[in-house]
Amino acid sequence: MKKTILITGGAGFIGSHVVRRFVNHYPEYLIVNGDKLTYAGNLENLSDIESRSNYRFEKIDIVDKEAVAVLFSKYNFDGVIHLAAESHVDRSITGPDEFVFTNIIGTVNLLNSARSSWKESPEGKQFYHISTDEVYGSLGKEGLFTEETAYDPKSPYSASKASSDHLVRAYNHTFGIPVIISNCSNNYGPNQFPEKLIPLAINNIKNNKPIPVYGKGENIRDWLYVEDHASAIDLIFHKGKTGETYNIGGNNEWKNIDLILLLCSILDRKLKRPVGTSEKLITYVTDRPGHDLRYAIDSSKLQTELGWSPIPEFAVGLEKTVDWYLSNEKWLERVLSGDYGKYYDQMYSGR
Ligand code: NAD
Ligand code: TYD
Repeated sequence: MKKTILITGGAGFIGSHVVRRFVNHYPEYLIVNGDKLTYAGNLENLSDIESRSNYRFEKIDIVDKEAVAVLFSKYNFDGVIHLAAESHVDRSITGPDEFVFTNIIGTVNLLNSARSSWKESPEGKQFYHISTDEVYGSLGKEGLFTEETAYDPKSPYSASKASSDHLVRAYNHTFGIPVIISNCSNNYGPNQFPEKLIPLAINNIKNNKPIPVYGKGENIRDWLYVEDHASAIDLIFHKGKTGETYNIGGNNEWKNIDLILLLCSILDRKLKRPVGTSEKLITYVTDRPGHDLRYAIDSSKLQTELGWSPIPEFAVGLEKTVDWYLSNEKWLERVLSGDYGKYYDQMYSGR
């Protein structure tokens, strides 16, 4: 069936994998990537599919209500997959305002436009909001986040995402907008901006720079390969039940320090350094304020109801990720220098 789908944040880490998957798997859909191209948005991530006839890029700031309304009237979307967000906890601590603007106001602007665009015929439409397990707060040593876990966000980032989740549910309840939400654990893989733990550690090890470990390195995250998140999003968008929430996770908990030690040993091998060289770069630094101790997801609802399961073993996914960063030095250099912004000017300005 022909559909026109808006994917917001499609130039970012997860969004670019979702856009590629939809453009490749659904030639009958028109995929519109709506992205502001902040520091985290990089169109080079999509250079392999940018000339496909079922793909369009629209530079848009979702905080700009008029621009969002104009985009909706231009395309008459059948569905929205909303990933655009400010996504880094540390940045939300040094500058929370942008998180409120993009994650909360931006989401409301999209909901309002979807509401007026779909009011005559909401049947078959879907507003799919991509969220995080961080809305549930922090776990102690035991237990897992389920879809019933009460919200208890602890950082400005997770509070802004929790707020947007509540608004999405409220628009469903009050105005009848068809919505779905998923809450996913930490992603890793190619194209992740090197401010997040795994690409930052790979880059620093490669360049013999200190690897900053917050606090004692005992915080725990549940890591999922980004393409497994993209496959879950595809499944939930097409087969998920409207009004429902699905948790997505890797069943793959790692203490930060153990993960960093594993990365050090992989990189020692790949860079042909003597065993133990890279771990000398580990540097304990002041802890992140309010640092959540542990996240871990129970994804059994998604697995049993929709038949999803993650594919690569962590060791395989991590090797693939390290290989990608080692063989995409230019991408890393351009991202770190900010030069990737020029790609948009060269490819899209004047169009
Ligand atoms: P990212 O920071 O890599 O990308 C975010 C994208 O949104 C960028 O392309 C950026 O340009 C765009 N954007 C930011 N502000 C915008 C605005 N005002 N208007 C339009 N576009 C804007 O983020 P990511 O890691 O790919 O995360 C994508 C989504 O998935 C986010 O909603 C995040 O909360 C959620 N999520 C991320 C993870 C993770 O581990 N990275 C885990 C669970 C959920
Ligand atoms: P991050 O990748 O920022 O994701 P999140 O905070 O959303 O889980 O961080 C993952 C974990 O790694 C988190 O416990 C903080 C820690 N961390 C470090 O120890 N050092 C670093 O330089 C970074 C970026 C994160």
